[in-house]
Amino acid sequence: MGRISDADIARVREATDLVAVVQNVTPLKPKGRDMWCCCPFHQEKTPSMKVDPSTQLWHCFGCGEGGDVFGFVMKNEDLSFPEAVRVLAERAHIDIVEEGGRGPSTTQNQKLRLKEVCKATAEFYHNALMRDAGPEAADARSYLSGRGFGTAVAKRWQLGFAPGRGALVRHLTSRNFTGQEMIAANVALAGNDGRLKDRFFNRIMFPIFDATGECIAFGGRVVGKGEPKYLNSQETPLFHKSKVLYGLDKAKAAMAATGVAIVVEGYTDVISLSEAGIANVVATLGTALTAQHIRLLSRHASKQIIYLFDGDEAGQRASDRALGFIDSSMTPEAGRTKTELAAVTLPDNLDPAEFVGERGADALRQLLASAKPLLEYGIDRKLARVDMSSTSGRMQGMVDAINLLAPIKDSILAKHYAVEIAGRTQVREEDALQLLASLTPPRRFDNRDDAPAPSAPAPAGDYPPYDDEVVPPEAFSPALNFQQKASREEMNRFKFERDLLGVLAQNPGSSAPYLEALAALRWHAPAHEAIAFSLVDQLYRNPGIDPAALVRAIEEQVPRSASLLSAQSVPAGRTVEEHLAFVMEELQIGDAEDTLAEMRRGFQQATFTDDERREAFAAMTALNQSIAQRKAAHAKGISRS
Ligand code: UTP
Ligand code: MN
Repeated sequence: MGRISDADIARVREATDLVAVVQNVTPLKPKGRDMWCCCPFHQEKTPSMKVDPSTQLWHCFGCGEGGDVFGFVMKNEDLSFPEAVRVLAERAHIDIVEEGGRGPSTTQNQKLRLKEVCKATAEFYHNALMRDAGPEAADARSYLSGRGFGTAVAKRWQLGFAPGRGALVRHLTSRNFTGQEMIAANVALAGNDGRLKDRFFNRIMFPIFDATGECIAFGGRVVGKGEPKYLNSQETPLFHKSKVLYGLDKAKAAMAATGVAIVVEGYTDVISLSEAGIANVVATLGTALTAQHIRLLSRHASKQIIYLFDGDEAGQRASDRALGFIDSSMTPEAGRTKTELAAVTLPDNLDPAEFVGERGADALRQLLASAKPLLEYGIDRKLARVDMSSTSGRMQGMVDAINLLAPIKDSILAKHYAVEIAGRTQVREEDALQLLASLTPPRRFDNRDDAPAPSAPAPAGDYPPYDDEVVPPEAFSPALNFQQKASREEMNRFKFERDLLGVLAQNPGSSAPYLEALAALRWHAPAHEAIAFSLVDQLYRNPGIDPAALVRAIEEQVPRSASLLSAQSVPAGRTVEEHLAFVMEELQIGDAEDTLAEMRRGFQQATFTDDERREAFAAMTALNQSIAQRKAAHAKGISRS
């Protein structure tokens, strides 16, 4: 596969109509100048996805996804960007030339071929574990049987051993797989000398299967002690960590039968529980649980998803992240019955494998039965963390626990819990309810599938330093964090920033007067600043660019920006120009106020001569007056619209 030229991408874009592509997937209905449909990416009965024929951009106001036609196909068919371009090129009968590649390749064929590589690799590793006579394979066998994983278990889970030293590459070569294919499946690497090397060596191998039971990737554990403990396949065209759950192929029947899915952290936990008769269990692959995982599981388990957290510190961090999944769909008002999210922590620093090993399956079943709905679990956690015997501890606990309710603050459920929290922390009910009412529900701009839970803009040290771990994207705007709850003003500022960026991106033809000012604004969200710079850069280079191409180009530079840019719109009754002028003025007044505040602080601290003091004071007064005038004029603009 080669690189597709920008010219070909542009040709495909021009030949493709977003409306027709979406229409093929889900029926569209006209409303105003836009088309609307039920979002194919989450379950819903009333349409919340907008498709704009003029900008060729789409956005779902339910799940926050959005972008151009390539983004739609990528998401809908689970493809990479070049793959989506190829699919749409075929649809439009356009021949694309791939630079430096082997010509057009059909993506489906390529994926089938990579699955064959994985299948042959899993068989090779498995045979090595079962039959290799060498001392290393023997160590692997005895390590596994020492953990209770004997021959029968190794067969059921197709466990293997990677001998390394080029053994796999030689085997796959003899089976007519090319080096490129081995590299693409991430079972081999090109060494410095250009020769192929096995990716895994001297490791116990856990093949990772997709939901249909086909091998798509591997996890490799050191035999005994060593670092890194696990080495996992990197993302490949077949393998997307945020969408795959280890063990789902074997667990899905039991999930359908019981209506319950259990989520644990490790490969060995899945195997131990499943072998102990608790079969409805899966693990994430060294990443946090994503919204996409939850959606996947709720298709298999209708009643409940139980998150079983390790008792150690890492497990506790994982549970904090999971609290970010608390959202408004959990309230009774949301109506439609949904799979309940529940959680429970293992006692005594144990992990699930150790717990079933030491105390048996029935003890674990009992523990699982005591799992609490995520909200209750979260409240208990917050209260367990403070000193409930002191007034300040109880106050802190009350504030932390009430803050958890922000996403559902207007629901009866939130009020119910607030009263309960007040009782437990011996705070007056009115105070707890008042605090609840004052919260701002977090904006879920990172409520995207593979983003970590929003309560967790994990600092670097929060994730284990896995060699191949994808660093979680920074929370998109700081406002997303419950802990450092942004003020209402700050939320407003973020909203205007997004508004300006989105409306400019959708109307590049009207952007020229704003480019300089855009670069000079004091952006409050770093991600917005990155988008602004990218936007300015694109528009200077290519002033005639159309909206969809512009949004794609920015997405390329600032991942995840397309859904933000596609979400904004010009309010009815205003022209694009009026709206842009209005929003820009709003932001510039905000900047001026920030400047004034800084001057005031400087004024208080600095040691001035009398003249300097007079001068600084005059400057502040002038700025203050100009802000007041601009605000008054601006307010007229608001009342006019
Ligand atoms: P654990 O460290 O809890 O491993 O990591 P485990 O599953 O209990 O393994 P054993 O029992 O010691 O063999 C949990 C999961 O986190 C990922 C793996 O998916 C692992 O199963 N992980 C852990 C990594 O990806 N890399 C690591 O270095 C460690
Ligand atoms: Mn573990």
